[in-house]
Amino acid sequence: MKMMKAIGILHEAQSNDLTLMDIAIPTINKNEVLVHMQAIGVGSHDRWFRPSNAKYPYPIGIEGAGTIVEIGENVKNYIIGDQVLFINNMQPKGGTWANFSAISEDALISMPNGLSFIDAAALPVAGKAALEGIKALGLQAGDTVFIAGASGAIGTLAIQLAVADGYRVASSASEKNHAYMLSLGAEKVVDYVDETWAEQVRLWMPDGVDAALAIQPGTGVTSMKIVKDGGKVITISGDQFETERQITAEQITHHPEIQRKLITLATEVADGHIRIIVEQVYPFEQGLEALKKVEARHAQGKIVLKME
Ligand SMILES: NC(=O)c1ccc[n+]([C@@H]2O[C@H](COP(=O)([O-])OP(=O)(O)OC[C@H]3O[C@@H](n4cnc5c(N)ncnc54)[C@H](OP(=O)(O)O)[C@@H]3O)[C@@H](O)[C@H]2O)c1
Repeated sequence: MKMMKAIGILHEAQSNDLTLMDIAIPTINKNEVLVHMQAIGVGSHDRWFRPSNAKYPYPIGIEGAGTIVEIGENVKNYIIGDQVLFINNMQPKGGTWANFSAISEDALISMPNGLSFIDAAALPVAGKAALEGIKALGLQAGDTVFIAGASGAIGTLAIQLAVADGYRVASSASEKNHAYMLSLGAEKVVDYVDETWAEQVRLWMPDGVDAALAIQPGTGVTSMKIVKDGGKVITISGDQFETERQITAEQITHHPEIQRKLITLATEVADGHIRIIVEQVYPFEQGLEALKKVEARHAQGKIVLKME
């Protein structure tokens, strides 16, 4: 049996106890490819996202980039040697924190020329959430949006996508990230720790902004303070709360066209029209350290693991 390194859960009983382990390389079915992983995106969900029918030992992780080394007989659009990025969510065979990962063909995105494995691995989960969030805002060019918790993985892309659509952006993060958010295109920046942050946004837009994109848990309810009467709050972390002043609140939902939009976004990143920011690249073996960094929720942009 061919073996590989992986980070994940050895036995089901070990719950969320993550370890570096030697396990068998997964076998692929007719509709899958085997990817030799080159880089892996790290997210605060990684410790928790696992299907109920997971097979143990189970590598965690839901996104990454690499090179195809084996192809299932029904796979039509890819060949061995192709470089791809993907979201591999809830795969019972195991996730992406491993030397090899079995990926369904319909999850694959070809890596555009000029995109590095590191940037490719940083893109899919944050890109998908940012695209879904921006779409759900339902805004038009010239409208205003407040993005809460905006210097991290999703916010870095959401600010740029909002500006590209012609929206005027206010955003929040601690003061050390204000110049960063301005460089991404935000017009007004506030510190969520400052008790006057909502007044500052109201000074910028006295009637309130048209909509808010609440990225961090708990920011949905606080974002209502600066949304206009009858405006909208879109939450990315599933916040549940009572609304006021005819404001509507919705969670982001999956749209079938999102894969096509992700492909376009990957091209825009490769062309340099949208910036991917990776604060730090960790060697794979230091994956748990990288996960702790992300779980603290203060990364600038994305954290990525690089395979040797
Ligand atoms: N629904 C989906 O499909 C989906 C997909 C991916 C992720 N998510 C959810 O999105 C969240 C992660 O987003 P992310 O990856 O962008 O996170 P992240 O990279 O950890 O974002 C960190 C950002 O949040 C700010 N922040 C930290 N604490 C805050 C607070 N109390 N109030 C406001 N802002 C705060 C940080 O600012 P400073 O560093 O300046 O403090 C920084 O701007 C998770 O809750 C995850 O479950 C959902």
